[in-house]
Amino acid sequence: MCGIVGYVGPRSAQDVVIEGLRRLEYRGYDSAGIAVESQGELSARKKSGKLANLVVELDEHPIPASTHGIGHTRWATHGGPTDANAHPHLSQNGRVALVHNGIIENFAELRAELEAEGVEFTSETDTEVAAQLLGREVESGAGLVESLRAVSRRLEGAFTLVAIDTAEPESVVAARRNSPLVVGLGEGENFLASDVAAFIEHTREALELGQDQVVEITPDTVTVTDFDGGEAETRPYHVDWDLSAAEKDGFDWFMRKEIFEQPKAVADTLLGRWGSKGELVLDEIRISPETLRRIDKIVIVACGTAFYAGMVAKYAIEHWTRIPCEVEIASEFRYRDPIIDPMTLVVTISQSGETADTLMAIRHAREQHAKVIAICNTNGATIPRESDAVIYTHAGPEIGVASTKGFLTQVVACYLLGLYLAQVRGMKYGDEIKALMDELDTMPAKIQKVLDERQRVLDLAAEFAKVPSVLFLGRHVGYPVALEGALKLKELAYIHAEGFAAGELKHGPIALIDQELPVFVVVPPQGRDQLHDKVVSNIQEIRARGARTIVLAEEGDTDVEPYADVLIPLPRVSTLLQPLVATVPLQLFACELATQKGHDVDQPRNLAKSVTVE
Ligand code: G6P
Repeated sequence: MCGIVGYVGPRSAQDVVIEGLRRLEYRGYDSAGIAVESQGELSARKKSGKLANLVVELDEHPIPASTHGIGHTRWATHGGPTDANAHPHLSQNGRVALVHNGIIENFAELRAELEAEGVEFTSETDTEVAAQLLGREVESGAGLVESLRAVSRRLEGAFTLVAIDTAEPESVVAARRNSPLVVGLGEGENFLASDVAAFIEHTREALELGQDQVVEITPDTVTVTDFDGGEAETRPYHVDWDLSAAEKDGFDWFMRKEIFEQPKAVADTLLGRWGSKGELVLDEIRISPETLRRIDKIVIVACGTAFYAGMVAKYAIEHWTRIPCEVEIASEFRYRDPIIDPMTLVVTISQSGETADTLMAIRHAREQHAKVIAICNTNGATIPRESDAVIYTHAGPEIGVASTKGFLTQVVACYLLGLYLAQVRGMKYGDEIKALMDELDTMPAKIQKVLDERQRVLDLAAEFAKVPSVLFLGRHVGYPVALEGALKLKELAYIHAEGFAAGELKHGPIALIDQELPVFVVVPPQGRDQLHDKVVSNIQEIRARGARTIVLAEEGDTDVEPYADVLIPLPRVSTLLQPLVATVPLQLFACELATQKGHDVDQPRNLAKSVTVE
């Protein structure tokens, strides 16, 4: 959601900024713009729609060569995705250009104040308020950094602001509160961006910023202060993936590439977890075993696909640890006054580590003195930084908006956490934990098998290209898999899809079933699971009403064969681990169906990869 790039150095600012914005496209946006400074003047170009529109505009109406500029991809909040509302916004006096990610909550009163002073606004955005305030500050004689601090102190809400000033052609400045911003540290050049993908081809050295900080970059310096000009703490880090990880590598979509990366992503997330002393080690857990033994409740909070990973986690964690575990959508959690206290362990799951609702849930939990563990895929992101402990998933960068390898690795990290808690609290013997770890180690090969046998699912996509609606059913851990299958289809194919707990079928959803409605059913493993037979009965109920059943069941499950119009075999795994194989065909189906419908799979309409506003 919104991508920001700032650059100062020897290269063409236009080239660096446009390429950076291209690499941030995956975040989701609906207009784009750039501003550069040259010979004491600002030049800006802004276009609604895709970045390609801005590139055409720059060809038709070039801007001067410059080594100092900012750019933005905007996901509209205040005001539609028009050229006028696109960023950067210039102050009326032409001194500063500014881009913004977030929402300025007190923009209406600030706008009224500025209008009373005679400022004429050219857009409907909250952002322009910050640009006009900054223009007024620099005109009063303060330097750009001091002016940005003064503006930041007046703003309420969430914001990353990045600005340039015609009077300071060697500087790009930025302020950050609750929205993402990282600094890329180059040689004789420096970068600002929403995430490292924007500058990874130029440098893999980055600087993580904290809350309420202002940064000034020049070609040779990076200076960070707090909003009052005091010293600020930052953390340099090395990005351990390179440009090739952010390339499609021969695939048509990042999403498809990421689906195929899942065996490795799962293996990498499991790597090094079994210690030399014969026990599970999670070295990023900075909460003492004594504290973990005292925990009497676990609350998992997350959004979107990560929430479904949390639903899987609940089954596993309660089963292995016997600690009561709730799962809650992050945006609902904070506002219902949840009962949490120092004995509560809050687990947040977020691929990006920047989802605003999840971040706010953490802050609320910490205010209640709960301990917070983050499961996150992004080093240096805000959520792990504000948590007591973190388990990193090692999926590598996930560019496709719809989460795939992010989900599978989140589920793995949740299993690791559950087993670790069981170990610390003495709920499982070492050899039981080792047996489960051994089974987890077999999962990459099993996921690969599902990928290798994908043809049947891909064929299905062609058959179902025109269906208006699809249902997904599952029980136990198959239920979140069903929800995830439905979400993927909505996100990518724009088809109405619903996931239901199969046992709820007779309490309503069965009324939706008619001739030809495709119903996907996730069947628990045969024989070893009491729910298996119940789900087989559910399939018969659906078939009796004429629906088409696409059944995901363990290979060799003869009970289910007679009732499946299409049978998708899954490798043999224990019930709790089944989501790691059962989700994959549903990801492939959604990706393929969306491709056949001609949709942009990596950037589905209206969606953002990282939802950085509440
Ligand atoms: C957005 C994305 C989803 C993702 C969700 C949570 O809605 O489109 O794919 O699951 O955010 O993101 P997070 O980064 O917190 O896992």
